[in-house]
Amino acid sequence: MFHKTLFLQESKRMSRHLIAPSILTADFLHLEDEVRMVNSSEADLLHLDIMDGVYVPNLTFGFPVIRQIKSVSEKPLDVHLMIVNPDRYLDEYRDAGADWLTVHYETCKHLHRTIQKISELGMKPAVSVNPHTDVALLEPVLGDLNMVLVMTVNPGFGGQKFIEASYAKIRKLKQMIKDAGADTLIEVDGGITEDNLGKLITAGVDVFVVGNTVFSAPDPVQMISNLKHPH
Ligand code: DX5
Ligand code: ZN
Repeated sequence: MFHKTLFLQESKRMSRHLIAPSILTADFLHLEDEVRMVNSSEADLLHLDIMDGVYVPNLTFGFPVIRQIKSVSEKPLDVHLMIVNPDRYLDEYRDAGADWLTVHYETCKHLHRTIQKISELGMKPAVSVNPHTDVALLEPVLGDLNMVLVMTVNPGFGGQKFIEASYAKIRKLKQMIKDAGADTLIEVDGGITEDNLGKLITAGVDVFVVGNTVFSAPDPVQMISNLKHPH
């Protein structure tokens, strides 16, 4: 029997997810053009990958670049810290223009305090877990978070292959959020394509970080629209 309301709810839900292009694989020789491309698209956020070459085996960019991106971007900055000891710099990331700030569970000695500080600074706090980290560890802080970022690749590089075991992890996290009566968002990051987006929406994902799929597309603006309106 065809459930019309169920179908409408699902299709409404399908268009409710957010897209956050990650500039890690963008053309850095034309970074302003890339940010303006995202401005002109249906993207909801701009995802910035901050890497220190210590927590992850890659190095990206610091505060001067974030400030310059902020001066051009018309989308909120979703800043993903893949750095050791993020507590050192929370104020600076806020001052540089971060709107959403994600720290890795594995890099925080006093995670609850770090989350509090991010909120006190006026940013939306999020915690990211690596593929080997159990989401159950976040249960004590779930209600304090705007979002949980589930890494669907090992952090450090764009263009990697999606880790299939992520689906079970996302479903487990979704149930935890429901059980807690929280409205914490779920974000995925790494290996997102038009092929796995639909299944991830069904699994409960709210926000999609998309790097290579967008920046290697012949028409990135059209690709973002395809991701916003999957059929
Ligand atoms: C990887 C970064 C991701 C990456 C996503 O460590 O956190 O944001 O840029 O890129 P794709 O979508 O190319 O896997
Ligand atoms: Zn990222």
